[in-house]
Amino acid sequence: MREIHLKPLSQEYPKITPTKDGSTTLYSSRFSQHYHNPNGAVAESRHIFFETPGLPKFLNHHEKITVFETGFGTGLNLLLLLDYIRQSTKIPLVTYYSVEAYPLDSNTAAQFDFGDNPHLNISKSTLIKIFDKLKPGLNTLNVAEKFTLHLFNGFFDDFFDGNFIRESEKMDFVIHDPFSPGVNPDLWTPEVFRKLAAISKIDVVLSTYCAATSARAAMAVGGWYVARAQGALGKREMTVASLNPEKLDAFKRVNEKKLSIRYENGDFS
Ligand SMILES: C[S@@+](CC[C@H](N)C(=O)[O-])C[C@H]1O[C@@H](n2cnc3c(N)ncnc32)[C@H](O)[C@@H]1O
Repeated sequence: MREIHLKPLSQEYPKITPTKDGSTTLYSSRFSQHYHNPNGAVAESRHIFFETPGLPKFLNHHEKITVFETGFGTGLNLLLLLDYIRQSTKIPLVTYYSVEAYPLDSNTAAQFDFGDNPHLNISKSTLIKIFDKLKPGLNTLNVAEKFTLHLFNGFFDDFFDGNFIRESEKMDFVIHDPFSPGVNPDLWTPEVFRKLAAISKIDVVLSTYCAATSARAAMAVGGWYVARAQGALGKREMTVASLNPEKLDAFKRVNEKKLSIRYENGDFS
């Protein structure tokens, strides 16, 4: 097991920065990247991880939902899911898995501002409690009615070595939200996407802001059908993927076979 940093080193402490939709994000000097699009943290996350993969619609038609997130970061996606559930017709049973190698502390979470989203600002207290209680390894917390968070404080690979996910808990949605392949290449390999496929249902939808051909090729080699979708906030494209090609009917598919051959030929190394 690699070393787990419970608190970021002082010189790598993520810095709070405002984004253009009035919500805050963080800047990581460890990865030299913002956690969200500076044009709008909340707006970007809603578009990429909720609206595009069809999660709000899913909530209205299912009794249960299972989600896996790569990179818990600020916890914004958890709060957004709570907000979508609040607006849905019924309260589903939620199982939310997330991994985070460099968790924030509750003082940082206390300074988040979700802009003109009163319900997100109200549920900030949920985040503060989560970060306050976090221990190394798997943390299981009830964050709301019928909502269980399994937050792994550690590295992605160590989480998968732990075999924590049972067959009955396979994923409906995968939020792939680590930093970009340029600064965090370890989380964009075929092996990573094979691991994500192994914990997912056939009808899963994986979504990510990343539109890099190399990342799409790694997904294809990892066993996913892959498609382009409209990007958020002025970005041309993002990527969605599934283990069932029919789930991508509304999007423009890439040629997985060609991309896989290019990947195997070393075109992206
Ligand atoms: C883009 S940011 C977080 C986004 C987060 N979903 C949010 O809305 O704030 C990516 C996160 O992935 C975490 N991360 C990067 N590499 C990781 C790894 N190998 N294992 C676990 N977490 C990792 C970073 O520490 C960071 O918090």
